[in-house]
Amino acid sequence: QIKAFLFDLDGVIVDTAIYHYQAWKRLANELGFDISEEFNEGLKGVSRTDSLDLILAHGGLTLSDEKKTELAAQKNDWYLELVSRMSSNDILPGVATFFSQVRQAGLKTALGSVSKNAPLILERIGMTDAFEAIIDGTKISKGKPDPEVFTKGAAELGVSPAECVVFEDAVAGVEAGKRGGMFVVGLGSPDTLAQADLVAPSLESLTVETVLTACS
Ligand code: G6P
Ligand code: MG
Repeated sequence: QIKAFLFDLDGVIVDTAIYHYQAWKRLANELGFDISEEFNEGLKGVSRTDSLDLILAHGGLTLSDEKKTELAAQKNDWYLELVSRMSSNDILPGVATFFSQVRQAGLKTALGSVSKNAPLILERIGMTDAFEAIIDGTKISKGKPDPEVFTKGAAELGVSPAECVVFEDAVAGVEAGKRGGMFVVGLGSPDTLAQADLVAPSLESLTVETVLTACS
């Protein structure tokens, strides 16, 4: 029986995925190469340091740890600049309705994001109180596709993995949920998120009832 819903943040609750992409693209461009939208799919849900390593490998660059720390900080500054004007208007369509159904159904909720900026984003959009547990990049040692971010969320809510549904827009995030032993709803394209148990374009096209029926 399902007792909790665990949500990714970037690309599920709010469209910050585009800002991560813009900031990484700018960094790659300054280093003399480009990253495509397709390449970016593989960065979604991946930690800041792991993303930088993937990008540098893509551009054929090997840099010192010192330089990498500097570049990661630069990317984050650009990202923070891009998200600084965000407000509750940036919450993705369907999220508010879906969350009111979640509350009605008496389900517990947790956030499972690898982003160290997740608490800041939640404050900006006024959704901090929507989650009983918040697991972000500062609380984990391994990013997605490792299941840690979701297994910690389940533990903090006091539920077992089999009682959880994960909502994810990233390939790495879908894998994390599956490896954690959870039912995973992929939000995006069925081609990209083939590993998910159920795929929908966004939360707007789902109801809590549809999800719970799919799990049973
Ligand atoms: C999320 C995003 C990734 C991002 C990661 C780390 O998982 O999907 O694109 O790289 O968080 O975010 P941070 O804000 O800590 O750099
Ligand atoms: Mg995401």
